[in-house]
Amino acid sequence: MALMRIAHSFSELRTLLPSSRTHRSWLVPTMGALHEGHGSLIDRARSEGDFVAVSIFVNPLQFGPGEDLDRYPRTLESDLAFLERRGTDLVFLPTAGEIVPRDGRITVSSGPVGKLFCGRSRPGHFDGVLTIVLKLFHLFTPEGAVFGEKDRQQLFLIQSMVRDLDLPIRVVGHPTVRESDGLALSSRNRYLTSEERSRAALFPAILDHAARLWKDLARDPFQNRLEVCDTISRRLSEEGFVVDYVAIADRETFLPISGPAIPDEAFLLAAVHLGKTRLIDNRELSTGV
Ligand code: PAF
Repeated sequence: MALMRIAHSFSELRTLLPSSRTHRSWLVPTMGALHEGHGSLIDRARSEGDFVAVSIFVNPLQFGPGEDLDRYPRTLESDLAFLERRGTDLVFLPTAGEIVPRDGRITVSSGPVGKLFCGRSRPGHFDGVLTIVLKLFHLFTPEGAVFGEKDRQQLFLIQSMVRDLDLPIRVVGHPTVRESDGLALSSRNRYLTSEERSRAALFPAILDHAARLWKDLARDPFQNRLEVCDTISRRLSEEGFVVDYVAIADRETFLPISGPAIPDEAFLLAAVHLGKTRLIDNRELSTGV
């Protein structure tokens, strides 16, 4: 297995990146606190290209006031061991001083979709994500990059940025990795107390129920399938979750579906709070017709 190299600065990165003439480099941007979900993104990058780079940077631009920037888990030593075991070729550990835009006046705007759903509760979050991801894309000029489908809105916005700004990079989404009880892996799951962790499994279970309901309601033309959102919000509240939002988004535009025409396929998106932890998840809805 080739040695894993580590770059701490832009200049080190430039000397360690292979030429695109000889290598097909793929990038997996992360904020560290790595788990098997990240591992599956790295494996996917490996299956797409022949050089895998991972960045670790807890991006302050995507945290709002009062959010968990300070307590976000930082586990560099175990992350590096994890990446080495996974056969990563290059790790980039930029400093905020170098990668965060100096005066912050020029940032990427995530547009109308960036203000919906998670963007409504976390103003500026997606502008912060896109600004850093665009910088990483410029620094690495990878053939492609992999992002998790758990952050469905983030994936949509990164794909939109690449398309709208004509960046020559393939962005692929990779399926969510789950615990055996269905909870999506997330670096933030470690905030959950043991009682909350047991309860958290109800979140994916209720979303599974929503996906079945969407199918069942389609059999009756007098039923409004959008009622799934209210039903699911109620169920989540009854189980002790504080619902941030439950919404149904169009698969092409990512705008909320409000009727009267309701497509057969859509995304169900949800975010809830459980104690001090914010959990997000989503489902691909299909009536199966
Ligand atoms: O999904 C994440 O971990 C972050 O939002 C990302 C894409 C690394 C940007 O900071």
